Amino acid sequence: MEILTLGNEKLRQKALPIEKIGNEHIEMAAKLLETLHREDGIGLAGPQVGFTQRIFAVHVDGDIPRIFINPSIIETSEETYKYEGGCLSIPGVNCNVVRPKKIKVKAWDEKGRAFTIEASGLLARVILHEYDHLEGTLFIDRISEEMRTRVLEKYEKVRGKKK
Ligand code: NI
Repeated sequence: MEILTLGNEKLRQKALPIEKIGNEHIEMAAKLLETLHREDGIGLAGPQVGFTQRIFAVHVDGDIPRIFINPSIIETSEETYKYEGGCLSIPGVNCNVVRPKKIKVKAWDEKGRAFTIEASGLLARVILHEYDHLEGTLFIDRISEEMRTRVLEKYEKVRGKKK
């Protein structure tokens, strides 16, 4: 699957809840993970491949691949930390983003099974990043205007070189 990049309006839409989890979501989950692995990423959300429904895939080193459908963030720690992050939809640039250290999330997997997970560190960050995609939010929305300008300038340069 092709990954949409910054400027595509689908990345800015609020994704719709999945009303009934069915076989098509097992397929969608497999495609998301396949694309995620091909791109050597750690998270990929439906809207990034033009599927504006509430589903994302996460696969962090040392952990199993995970699919989240209709996730809700039910707890976030007050403690936050800053860590460098990027996005497959804004390739070639990274920036420090402040996020909660620990979270608790409820979601369903591609087979329709509900689960709750407590995550910290990188896994928590990726889940929050992918959750943002479902809301039409990108990591560049979570940094200062000054940083955003710098990141976008660099992105334009990187993109220019690829053409
Ligand atoms: Ni992203």
